[in-house]
Amino acid sequence: MFHTTFYLRRLHSICGLLVLGMVLFEHIFTNSMAIFGPEGLNTALEMMELIPKPIFYGLEIGGIAVPLLFHGIYGIYIALQAKNNPGNYGYVRNINFAIQRWTAWFLVVFLVWHVGYLRCYVKGVTGTPISFELLQNFFQNPIVVILYILGMWAAIFHFCNGITTFCMTWGITKGPRAQKAVGCISMMLCAALCAVTVIFMASYFMY
Ligand code: HEM
Repeated sequence: MFHTTFYLRRLHSICGLLVLGMVLFEHIFTNSMAIFGPEGLNTALEMMELIPKPIFYGLEIGGIAVPLLFHGIYGIYIALQAKNNPGNYGYVRNINFAIQRWTAWFLVVFLVWHVGYLRCYVKGVTGTPISFELLQNFFQNPIVVILYILGMWAAIFHFCNGITTFCMTWGITKGPRAQKAVGCISMMLCAALCAVTVIFMASYFMY
């Protein structure tokens, strides 16, 4: 039983950092093409359509859906057990630990809405291709824009703070100095990715 929990936790950790981390970077990169207007984003999306369908669906299921479902469901189980104030860490670590949990809960709701609406309903059920124009229309509603920025920021913070906790979990950063250094670098990455998100979201109002 102890071993099962240990390995499940390690799998959850690897899944979050390596698999979902790559998905997040790819997603931010593709979406940033909106900075170059309709042509920029639509070309990036069309290039994805060039990937042969069996490989594309294989990646969607094996590389995104399964890892996300495992990380999300096991993450809910961990979060329900969480003691929200681990006293052996500093003040900033305590706050970051709590935000890590809040962002996890927010992501459950946001990702069900985001994936359920855009990927499953719009693209899957109605067969409408996702394009700059479609998203521009979607973002006419300011509440949608705010929720999307919050959703992206939540995923970015959750991932970047996860880099710090991952390094602790796996014994990569052992002393407080190394933990602080990785903590600072990951928060700088967090700030940079959050800024990129605001810039690409703003692009929908400039063209
Ligand atoms: C679907 C909603 C999600 C839930 C419920 C969730 C839940 C959690 C929880 C509870 C932890 C802390 C684990 C621990 O303390 O041992 C965690 C860690 C982590 N999550 Fe998530 N998560 C979600 C989505 C994501 C996404 C989308 C990403 C990537 C963009 C991600 C990346 C990470 C990383 C890198 C860690 C750190 C792993 C570690 O400390 O070793 N998570 N997640």
